[in-house]
Parts: sequence; C-alpha cells; structure tokens
Amino acid sequence: MGKGSHKYASKVPDERGYIAYTEDEDQVWSELYARQMRILPGRACEAYLDYLAALELPQDRVPQLPEVSEVLRAHTGWEAAPVPALIPFTEFFNLLAERKFPAATFIRSREQMEYLQEPDIFHEVFGHCPLLLDEGFAAFSHAYGRAGAAARKEDHAMLARLYWFTVEFGLIQPPGGALRAYGAGLCSSIGEVRYALDSDVPERRRFDPIAALRTPYRIDIFQTVYYVIESSAELYDLAQQDLLGLIREARALGMFPPTFPPREAAAS
Ligand SMILES: [Fe+2]
Repeated sequence: MGKGSHKYASKVPDERGYIAYTEDEDQVWSELYARQMRILPGRACEAYLDYLAALELPQDRVPQLPEVSEVLRAHTGWEAAPVPALIPFTEFFNLLAERKFPAATFIRSREQMEYLQEPDIFHEVFGHCPLLLDEGFAAFSHAYGRAGAAARKEDHAMLARLYWFTVEFGLIQPPGGALRAYGAGLCSSIGEVRYALDSDVPERRRFDPIAALRTPYRIDIFQTVYYVIESSAELYDLAQQDLLGLIREARALGMFPPTFPPREAAAS
C-alpha cells in the first residue's frame, strides 16, 4: 500500500504463479537478505526472527509467492497474492479480509538498495510475511481488512494510520524485556530499524489504538513517533474490538498536531 510515482511495474506471474526474475534481481534479493540478517538479531523481536526462519526463504534468489503461501496456509490460513505495485484501498482491504496478503512482485533496483517509498517484494515477503505466521498478528491483519472493507471511504485514511503504527512501524517491549522492532517497514529497512530503537530523536509512545488513529505520519521520512506494544496478544485483542467504533471515537477527539515539518511545497 502507498502512494507515489509509478517507477516500478509489478511482474506478471505465469499460470503456476511463478515469476521469472533476472540474475541481477536474484542478486539484489540475496544482498538485501544477507544485509538484513546482519542487523536484525537483537533488533527484531524474537517472534519475527523465529517465523522468518520458519518461512525458509531462499537466500540466493527472489522467492516465489506460491512457495511462501504454502507455509502461510499451513500456519494461519493466509496466502500471499501478487498485485501491481500500488492498489486502491478498497482492493487492499478486500484482499486482507480474505486472508490474502497483497504483495507487489517487483524488486528494487540496485540504485535504491537503501530506501524506496514503494513496497517491493523484499519489503512484502521479508518484512510482512514472517508475522503473518503468528496467531495474534494474523488475526489483527484479518480484522483490519474486514473493518476496511466495511468502512466508509472517509475512514480509509484513518484506518491506514492504525496499520502504519502497528504492522508497518510497530515496536514491541514485553514487561521487563528489551525494546525490539516488529513492523515490516522497520524489519525490511537498514537505516530506520536502528534509528527507531537507538536514536534519541523520535518519541516512543505506549500503544493505544485511539492515539495511533489520531497521529499523522509521513511516508517519506523516518518516523517521528513510534508506538510500542507489549505483546502480540494486544493486537489479537484489538482484532476482537469494533475498529469502526474506535475510528468514530478518534474522529470525535480530532487529530494530534504533526510532530514533523510539512512536506516541501515545491515537491507537490
Ligand atoms: Fe508494508
């Protein structure tokens, strides 16, 4: 999910769901994988690392979505569905509501190894798929999709904030335990995962769904606010709540003021 310019086009799978990647693309995956494995131990939460191992992703080539889906299905009934790089909110929510994780199938170019705004297959599979093997996270993603499918168009942006501050950029700290990352945007990034955990600059707030719904964000900078949960059970519990009701509450309270500078006017 995301907005921005269409620099990349997703690749179209064959009838078995397989995609032909080039040698160079396989090499990019391999380098991203190795790089992330050097920095994630001690930074990503245990559950993420355990489920990443359970996914048994290839390290020398881009994984194929049917292979990933096989593991997802066996654990939590999810699958990874190929989509174009950017899809409308409605389609995004509908897929999640069917336990299908929408995955863009292109991989970033060598010039954008550090950062890209559009989600590529490394972000989708390496970042998102491990925690879709977890009961709590999977239940939350499903509930989120169902809420989105039933939401009014005006509520889409608000729901997106809840996803942003949990599934994408969430931090986790069990009572008495260490602060770790679980969000896909962090676990698939080289710079921001360190920043989110180590820097004194961003605020780390105890997660509260209403607060997250009221917090503005920008997709093109490191986050200025991260929300910290104690365990995935918290998201599981949230999945049982009336998310659209929470949106109404948050809307009545109004947005928090942004803690970041406005986007450069010249960029628009
Ligand atoms: Fe994502």
